[in-house]
Amino acid sequence: DWTADIFVETSIKNLREQLGDDHVILALSGGVDSSVAAILLHHAIGKHLHCIFVDNGLLRKGEFEQVLDSYKHMGLNIKGIDAKTKFYKQLEGVKDPERKRKIIGGGFIEVFDDAAHEISKELPEGVEVKWLGQGTIYPDVIESISVNGPSATIKSHHNVGGLPDFMKLKVVEPLRSLFKDEVRRVGKALEMDPIILGRHPFPGPGLGIRILGDVTADKVRILQEADAIFIRNLRDAGWYDQVWQAGAIFLPVQSVGVMGDERTYEHVICLRAVGSMDGMTADWIHLPYDLLSKISNEIINHVKGINRVVYDISSKPPATIEWE
Ligand code: XMP
Repeated sequence: DWTADIFVETSIKNLREQLGDDHVILALSGGVDSSVAAILLHHAIGKHLHCIFVDNGLLRKGEFEQVLDSYKHMGLNIKGIDAKTKFYKQLEGVKDPERKRKIIGGGFIEVFDDAAHEISKELPEGVEVKWLGQGTIYPDVIESISVNGPSATIKSHHNVGGLPDFMKLKVVEPLRSLFKDEVRRVGKALEMDPIILGRHPFPGPGLGIRILGDVTADKVRILQEADAIFIRNLRDAGWYDQVWQAGAIFLPVQSVGVMGDERTYEHVICLRAVGSMDGMTADWIHLPYDLLSKISNEIINHVKGINRVVYDISSKPPATIEWE
């Protein structure tokens, strides 16, 4: 029978055997998977694990600072990298969802590669980073097979699959066989912060795929504000832990509204909250009307540029959780 304690014990032992004295670089996303992967590796190889956390400008409001802080408290060897400008520049004018994913994924790899070289330079003569650690879990592997297989293209998950040749790092993925609930149990067995373990899944490409159409710093700011209001209200009302995942989406349309005596022509925010076991299927959550009403009012009254809020009532399949 599978237990988290036994998994922790055997994977630490296996990681030590696999990695020996090698150095590993791991990019944290702030999410459960990469955090648990990092703590496991930290237990196995200590300071030979070098974590980076990239601000791609597509994170949630205040996320970069908060997450960086909590990782430092956990004793991880971690470096925050501000790459906002790079990502915004590369995404400029790009509307196609798959292209955006590829650009963001490619941007990450370039930042990793630079960081790996930097870190290697700080290591003793002749020692270099040889591995890339990743928090890939089983459903990522499955969806990636359908993406890369001959029959269907769903979405390219940037954090799965091969790395380009120029990056000569081997990949170590300690959670590859686990489902999300198992990852959380492993995190608990490692005595990790419940706030981190309870965090909703958040896609690698971040708000970049929750802004439909082209991404600008302005749209990111608007979406961050709306999303923060949504998530805070879910927490306050006790709904956060009852949903698998929730977030706001910036729609690429404008609609007419009225404010005082003025006609407005502004953007639309969509709210999405789903229940799921593993992200492979999902049902939209029947949030109470009162709560939706409160959130809608707060967003429209406080987020400049938004005059309409809608709620997504689609389940997966056929709709995916993310809109892009
Ligand atoms: P979809 O939209 O395919 O999402 O129903 C299923 C789950 O996967 C997350 N997701 C991603 N996670 N990189 C990630 O790490 C990605 O590119 C990515 N795309 C989607 C999504 O948030 C949901 O939890």
